[in-house]
Amino acid sequence: MYALLGLVFGLFLSATPTLSASVEVETRSMQEIYLSALQENKTLRVSWGGDVRTSGDLIASAFEESFPGITVQVLGDLSKYLDGRINRVYQTSAGLDDGADVVVIQSVHNFPQWKEQNRLLNYKPVNWDDIYPEFVDADGAYAGYYIFTFGPTVYNPLVYQISDLPQYYTDYLADQWANKIILPYPNDDDAVLYLFTLITNKYGWSFIDTLATQGVMWVRGTATPSLYIAENNSSISLSNLFARSDSISFASSTAFAEGVNSSINSDVYMAWPQTGAIFATTPAPETAKLFMNFLLSDERQALVGDDGFATRRTFDTGGVFNQANVEPLGYGEFMSDRRLVESWRLQFERIFGTPQGLDPLDLAL
Ligand SMILES: *[C@@H]1O[C@H](CO)[C@@H](O)[C@H](O)[C@H]1NC(C)=O
Ligand SMILES: *[C@@H]1O[C@H](CO)[C@@H](O)[C@H](O)[C@H]1NC(C)=O
Ligand SMILES: *[C@@H]1O[C@H](CO)[C@@H](O)[C@H](O)[C@H]1NC(C)=O
Ligand SMILES: *[C@@H]1O[C@H](CO)[C@@H](O)[C@H](O)[C@H]1NC(C)=O
Repeated sequence: MYALLGLVFGLFLSATPTLSASVEVETRSMQEIYLSALQENKTLRVSWGGDVRTSGDLIASAFEESFPGITVQVLGDLSKYLDGRINRVYQTSAGLDDGADVVVIQSVHNFPQWKEQNRLLNYKPVNWDDIYPEFVDADGAYAGYYIFTFGPTVYNPLVYQISDLPQYYTDYLADQWANKIILPYPNDDDAVLYLFTLITNKYGWSFIDTLATQGVMWVRGTATPSLYIAENNSSISLSNLFARSDSISFASSTAFAEGVNSSINSDVYMAWPQTGAIFATTPAPETAKLFMNFLLSDERQALVGDDGFATRRTFDTGGVFNQANVEPLGYGEFMSDRRLVESWRLQFERIFGTPQGLDPLDLAL
């Protein structure tokens, strides 16, 4: 038994490339990296976390269009499952493969662990020094690429004006909003869960108990509330959803439901750096580097991110570290303590029930 473990461990060690402690920021142009990537001639495997299947496909096609001749295979799934997929391939390949060349997920607790296991390639893309130092690993093993938020009120501007909307979470408990709130289960998504812990810490369990009697429509997937809220925009039709355009949400991504708006209210909310890394086992390091430079490029940074926030200072027009009601590093600290995460998750599961409904990855978008 011990001999076998030693053998496996030995294989892991010999399979791990020697990684330098730290690296310099990339100095080559995109064109030079592109030429190296073309020479590699490898399909780039990207593990892209998210509950909308098309989000990974969109980034892949944008990348392929920018760099003809480069091919991407997107491995899309919920972030909470992608880390397990990656670790399983690593285990069954005896450390020779991670099943992906690049990973971008919200399960941020994995990155320090993967780094400790020598599984990440230290690399600093061209715009590295523009990223807030709080969002990068000093050696270049991983970095936050985009800022996403939950907490701002999501609504249909055809139905409501900003002045109609709740300013505090307690306003959601008013009769006016009974049966008009759509939320993803906090026990189904760690970022939503963290928001619920902030709200519970501020307003107590009585808030949660009252919310449970407010006729909330609980759904799976963080894009799902927005899709319902958008539904009476006739250019968006989803056969498996029905019109709930007069509903609102405090935990939804609006990125896939055009015509839906989001407004930061006066209460606490959460924000996190969607974090990415290159696996050291990649047979396509140059193509992986090209992809990371692409994600951090001015073009992509101008397009992606919530509420005017970005991990790159240049694109952080909202000033994510200068907000009264959000602590952008709080989610990372929360996630690093899985025992705490699980205890909160099960508290909410007892009250709201196990996640039910359509798998968000099956939504036809
Ligand atoms: C790239 O790889 C494909 C398949 O592995 C091969 O058919 C093709 O000849 C390669 N192209 C170059 C330029 O090496
Ligand atoms: C959208 O739906 C709401 C109520 O559900 C209704 O008040 C509003 O008139 C609708 N707007 C359009 C453009 O159909
Ligand atoms: C309806 O949705 C489309 C995109 O699907 C968007 O371009 C349009 O602005 C929306 N209309 C309204 C009135 O919000
Ligand atoms: C959408 O929300 C933004 C930010 O809260 C606001 O400035 C804008 O006026 C809203 N748009 C509509 C159509 O209500």
